[in-house]
Amino acid sequence: MAMTTVPVDLGSRRYDILIGPGLLADAGTHLRAVLKHDRLLVIADAAVARLHWPVLDASLRAAGFRADLLETPPGEASKGFSVFAGLLEQALALGIDRRTTVVALGGGVTGDLAGFVAAVLLRGLDFVQIPTTLLAQVDSSVGGKTAINAKAGKNLVGAFHQPKLVLADLDVLKTLPRRELLAGFAEVLKYGLIDRPAFFDWLLEHGPAALAGDSALLGEAVAECCRAKAAVVQADEREEGQRALLNLGHTFGHAFEAEAGYDGGLLHGEAVAIGMALAFRHSARLGLLPQAEAESVAASLAGFGLPVRPDLSGNRPISSAETLLARMRKDKKALDGKVTLILARGVGQAFVARDADAGPILETLTEALQP
Ligand code: GLY
Repeated sequence: MAMTTVPVDLGSRRYDILIGPGLLADAGTHLRAVLKHDRLLVIADAAVARLHWPVLDASLRAAGFRADLLETPPGEASKGFSVFAGLLEQALALGIDRRTTVVALGGGVTGDLAGFVAAVLLRGLDFVQIPTTLLAQVDSSVGGKTAINAKAGKNLVGAFHQPKLVLADLDVLKTLPRRELLAGFAEVLKYGLIDRPAFFDWLLEHGPAALAGDSALLGEAVAECCRAKAAVVQADEREEGQRALLNLGHTFGHAFEAEAGYDGGLLHGEAVAIGMALAFRHSARLGLLPQAEAESVAASLAGFGLPVRPDLSGNRPISSAETLLARMRKDKKALDGKVTLILARGVGQAFVARDADAGPILETLTEALQP
């Protein structure tokens, strides 16, 4: 597959997403085209750095960049105040200045963390995303959301800070464990379910081959997701309206993810798959679409091997539907404690439902917790 360029048109803050094989090895050339200065601060977790830093470092050097690498521990726990503060202090100790560009090399955790570092260091540094997971390539690296977690919940402290460039190298996806690739694929399916029914059908046909290693098909899917995300972000950069659609499956999903404890027992994409199945089942409960259509969506997700119900036999049993609802009320989209849901009238017909009634939500959650 040749390289595909997807522009994100945000006026003076416009940038390109480059998608294709071999981009890491050419990163120096691509960064050179958009950055004026030579100094880079690359943030990567130790596992990703071991796999990809040597190639990236060589490419950056060849293009005349001077890059320092700051490593973080792998996992969601590094998206907290202490790792964040440590990165700020280390960066300042290295003598960075306003001409330094922060580069995130890694998955969603690294992108969110490094992006927030870039947003606040010296009141804002240029930023480049090099996403190395499917989830990060199709969702979190695009659109400028950066954040760390607080005790009260995920992503509650952050900033909008758009990158100057996103490099989505399809070759790096080959190093992903199958489970993580599949979890990222839940976010791919999400775009079809939101407003691209033809893409959803395409995924049902070509998704299995893309997941089995057909890079060209996977690249087509990544590019279509990035086009979809760019369109939403261009229309509503700061989530004052329609950008909330990108949270299909997330309000239900985040509640299960929080219950599971972010320890890898339930990956974000897996929680989103459960959440999307529940969002469709809940929509059917409200009479928005036939139950059979909701079940068909859930069956399609399950057909890829994604979970569509919580694992009730897990190490951390889910306490109750009420606990889950309480978690949903803490979601960032909630206003005055009232839950905002993304519901659907069919595949590709999602909409934002503010002030969702708690009663039916409890029924949907209670049903999901039936053995
Ligand atoms: N991941 C959702 C968004 O970027 O709005």
